[in-house]
Amino acid sequence: MPTLTTPADMRAWADKARREGLTIGFVPTMGALHAGHLELIRAATAAADVVVVSIFVNPMQFGQDRDFDGYPRPIEADIALCDSLGVSAVYAPTASTVYPPGFQTRVLPGQLAEGMEGAARAGHFGGVTTVLVKLFSVIAPHLAVFGEKDYQQLAVVRQMVRDFDLGIEVVGFPTVRELDGLAISSRNALLTAPQRAAATCLPNALQAAVDVGNRGADSRVTDILSSAREIIDTEPSAALEYIDVFDAATLTPIETLTPVQRSVGAVRIAAAIRIGAIRLIDNRDLFGH
Ligand code: PAJ
Repeated sequence: MPTLTTPADMRAWADKARREGLTIGFVPTMGALHAGHLELIRAATAAADVVVVSIFVNPMQFGQDRDFDGYPRPIEADIALCDSLGVSAVYAPTASTVYPPGFQTRVLPGQLAEGMEGAARAGHFGGVTTVLVKLFSVIAPHLAVFGEKDYQQLAVVRQMVRDFDLGIEVVGFPTVRELDGLAISSRNALLTAPQRAAATCLPNALQAAVDVGNRGADSRVTDILSSAREIIDTEPSAALEYIDVFDAATLTPIETLTPVQRSVGAVRIAAAIRIGAIRLIDNRDLFGH
């Protein structure tokens, strides 16, 4: 399995695969691969002839004071994992290759990027869309797999692909969780044992919201939200950053649920909490399983 580090090499590899009539599946990552990433890779392997995984900790999507420098970079282990899963090629460029001196063009996402993570992390989604346009243009995959764990990112990417006529099938993959429900994330490893125990308040809160939502046709958004807030408030080490119930397609906040919205896939609930310095996010289909 080759590890390619320049746009020219990556493009030549992908061009060759396409000339051979192979479909290319792509899984963009920032490395530190965990079970969530691995499931995305398996899904790509099942759906395409060859699979490219990119490993690039993208400085443009981190804020000034964010955890870019401290982001884990176990590149050798990541490459070995990709190899063991049958990945066809890894693309692992350096930051100065992706953003050489003089780089100045940016992709600006629209309204979908404004709330929730976009409000909490200024410029974040512009960094995500900019790097993805670069990765997509070098690899030109037929399909790309993204996790529902980052639901807003998935929505922003789908919109960008549509708006720019990129012709890539964007595949969303359900969130992979630990046995106690915590969504798997590279940030989980930064939690101390008591913090890790406290972190389950996040999936528990979303579960409580799902339970209240499914209780009956008269469940109200305010009751759904307060049932979730209550669980996070009860955990002394967790601080709620936001919790929103919103339309799954437009991401617009919902205040009153219509009967049509009470169906699988129509409405989402998402939250972000802080435990100490660690920020955790999660979301669920409010009327899903
Ligand atoms: P990263 O955080 O490494 O995530 C890579 C992909 O894995 C994303 O699509 C993310 O949603 C998915 N993922 C992470 N944890 C998951 C889980 N527990 N279950 C399912 N999928 C999960 O997201 C990024 O990198 C970057 O923003 C990137 C798209 C690579 C652009 O730099």
